[in-house]
Amino acid sequence: MLDLKFDYGDCVARSEQVEWTLDDVMEEGQPLDFTRPFLPAALVGHLADVPGLDDATRLHLNQIAGNAYLNLFQFVEEYILATMLEHAQAELFGNPQAMRALTRMVDEELKHQELFKRFRRSFDRDFGHPCGVLESAAEVAHVIMSHSPIAVMIITLHIEWMTQQHYTESVRRDDTIDPFFKSLLRHHWLEESQHARIDMLELDKLACMASEEMRDKAVEEYLGILDAFDDLLGEQVELDLASLAAARGVALEPATKKAVEKALHQCYRHTFIWYGMTNRNVVESLEKISPKGAAAVAARAERFA
Ligand SMILES: [Fe+2]
Ligand SMILES: [Fe+2]
Repeated sequence: MLDLKFDYGDCVARSEQVEWTLDDVMEEGQPLDFTRPFLPAALVGHLADVPGLDDATRLHLNQIAGNAYLNLFQFVEEYILATMLEHAQAELFGNPQAMRALTRMVDEELKHQELFKRFRRSFDRDFGHPCGVLESAAEVAHVIMSHSPIAVMIITLHIEWMTQQHYTESVRRDDTIDPFFKSLLRHHWLEESQHARIDMLELDKLACMASEEMRDKAVEEYLGILDAFDDLLGEQVELDLASLAAARGVALEPATKKAVEKALHQCYRHTFIWYGMTNRNVVESLEKISPKGAAAVAARAERFA
């Protein structure tokens, strides 16, 4: 149905070419440099419009958002690896290349989670103040996986293509951000490139077995998952504001706090929701599996622009 030009064997071969170890990217306890921003301007653009923030506060906010950004990946990877483990199980005695691609993907996601946790331990130690992040990954994984397998695959496709786009369009060319943070995102992108293709192969497999009605319904479910995700992003913003107050030693003026709250939520929406909904590969896949659903997604994306 998706007319793909690659197969599971291609994903395995590419994964073997680019694989890295945790210590290649970050050693346990490695110190972090807090003199530069972590996230590129393109991912936190709305914050630039907030008046009345001094440079130190802007830098703190960027670094707090950078820590939250990595944790949000660690958070969603919980359900992705559990889902892919189920997909690998379904290939038992089936296609060995599919099983290899899927089990490698599970192992890579576990490694990414370890990397992001390693980063967080150094961040918590070196930033000087504890920074809250969403902790309910297993609970959320359970909720996401209660949806139809096609809906779960669509949100996964969204997340993994979005990751590609963040790196290739925003991170790679930004020379103002911390080089270590950039290298960490580069290594993540190298392996996520295969994941996004495996997602398309899995989505194609599921879509071919489903009726038109099931495919349309799955896109509706995907939109519902995005709304729930947006609520979680709002929770992360509140944690970030508390972290910022701790870092500054004094709370922001109420009007400035409100402006930061709104701008940061808009940054997260743009980064985690809008990017994925409008990604060319996601849009083209949706147009093939559910033209009606693709139109609904395009209309809804405006809300997250
Ligand atoms: Fe990952
Ligand atoms: Fe992934």
